[in-house]
Amino acid sequence: MKGVILAGGLGMRLSPLTKITNKHLLPVYDKPMIYYPIQILINAGIEDILIVTGGNDAGDFLRLIGNGREFGLKHINYTYQEGHGGIADALSLAEFFADKQSICVVLGDNIIEKNIRGMVEAFKRQKHGAKILLKEVPDPQRFGVPELDGDRVVRIEEKPKVPKSKYAIIGIYLYDNMVFDIIKAQKPSDRGELEITDVNNAYINRGEMTWDVLDGWWTDAGTFDSLLRASQLVAKTGANKI
Ligand code: G1P
Repeated sequence: MKGVILAGGLGMRLSPLTKITNKHLLPVYDKPMIYYPIQILINAGIEDILIVTGGNDAGDFLRLIGNGREFGLKHINYTYQEGHGGIADALSLAEFFADKQSICVVLGDNIIEKNIRGMVEAFKRQKHGAKILLKEVPDPQRFGVPELDGDRVVRIEEKPKVPKSKYAIIGIYLYDNMVFDIIKAQKPSDRGELEITDVNNAYINRGEMTWDVLDGWWTDAGTFDSLLRASQLVAKTGANKI
């Protein structure tokens, strides 16, 4: 399995912090944000990693991370998203890198307390399809929200005004190689982007989506409140515990 970190986008919700740098290079407590998703993958046993970035500051990723030596890696891969086509558009750039293997996709602003090794191992046994992770949150309307029927996820709604559950879909996704064909068949949403929620709904419609509830805390870091919260959580308990 290979790992893909999506670290593009404009970071508009963090303007003016993101006027002169990429959101994923901002500090979360004592490290740049992008360090956390890299460690999520390494702790899950995934060391073949691609970072998809974009915008004006892409060169800074190379200066910061280089070949990943600080993380014990021999090599790390980068690619560049032109324009702002959304998360699924950024993911489509990983097709050549994935080379028919399954992938673990991590949104570059997602930070977790523990590790996802168990989820990754379970997905390897699943053999095909996709797997998502849920976490109960006080503000599900900020996220992708699943509608559940017992053990089954029926549908995911992106930022619903009236959420159908208390869960957020966190930004860590496991996909088989079909994901790239699914993205090719997608149409842009009302905001003109290819949405990761549409990709996940396609897997649900195929009857090939499984889910787990994440153990330990999770936060995104893409708004002022969640960026502060991320720093506070990391300072208090640490992240990416083995
Ligand atoms: C994205 C996804 C959303 C998911 C969230 C997790 O939202 O679209 O479904 O719940 O990441 O961080 P965004 O942060 O781009 O608004």
